[in-house]
Amino acid sequence: MKIAIFGAGNIGAAVANDLIVSDSLSQKIDSIALVDTVEQIARGKALDLAHAAAVYERDLRISGSTEPSDIADAGIVVITAGRARKAGQSREELFGSNAAIVAQCARDAAKYAPSSIIIVVTNPLDMMVYAALKASGFAKERVIGMAGELDGARLKFELARESGKEISSMRSAIVGPHSEEMIALKNELGFEISDEIFGRAVQNTKRAGAQIGELLGTSAYLAPAAGIVKIMKYILCDTCGTLACCVADRSGVPLGRFVSVGKMGAIERNFAYSGEFYEQLERMRERIAGLKF
Ligand code: LAC
Repeated sequence: MKIAIFGAGNIGAAVANDLIVSDSLSQKIDSIALVDTVEQIARGKALDLAHAAAVYERDLRISGSTEPSDIADAGIVVITAGRARKAGQSREELFGSNAAIVAQCARDAAKYAPSSIIIVVTNPLDMMVYAALKASGFAKERVIGMAGELDGARLKFELARESGKEISSMRSAIVGPHSEEMIALKNELGFEISDEIFGRAVQNTKRAGAQIGELLGTSAYLAPAAGIVKIMKYILCDTCGTLACCVADRSGVPLGRFVSVGKMGAIERNFAYSGEFYEQLERMRERIAGLKF
């Protein structure tokens, strides 16, 4: 399968690198196309990644250009393009600058890679999933936002640090929007933990993205890339296992929810969400009403 990545910045390059490093995933792909508006970045990162692939003795074609048609016939199109969060900036503030960019990438995906599955990571994530869904015209199963696995992983990390429990024994338990309003589901973790420890871990999880932004001066990229590659793995291996991803429901409103991910994309799972989830769903419905890209 060919993988296309719009945006050759930190996340895009880290996704490509993760694929190259993985023995199993690199066997399932034959090429990676990076597309960026800055030609030197696209070409420079592609060359560096091609050298990394050579180090690992992979027979992968890796290209970098400004030309959207280079994504032709990709099976998965990752959209990381757009501005990243700066220190002190909320994800929501990025809507104005990023919506048109993501919508154009999605139109290009529909034009050049019409059978692809789109994975979106650009912020504000939930609204960008909506933009990609509308602009591509794809079925909702084929437009997947990556956030729940990242937020869920950050929560696991915090809980492991506080309780000493193994991360490998924990389940992803964050749904809802990729914002301060994310919803952590204590009963889904797979083990008992005190309200006090859980509450503290959730607060740290909500702050994690901003904390990295303050330290790095730009947004996190290694863990977000890992979240994307995890979704890709489920698609490439047709796992059909459960992940927390941002996918639109039947009425077209995207929000982080539990889905089954395989080669057909992300199919919503039945789950008894709480009232808080439905409140966030209505808030998102209002936010996306009338949005233009
Ligand atoms: C974060 C960005 C990717 O949470 O939204 O790190």
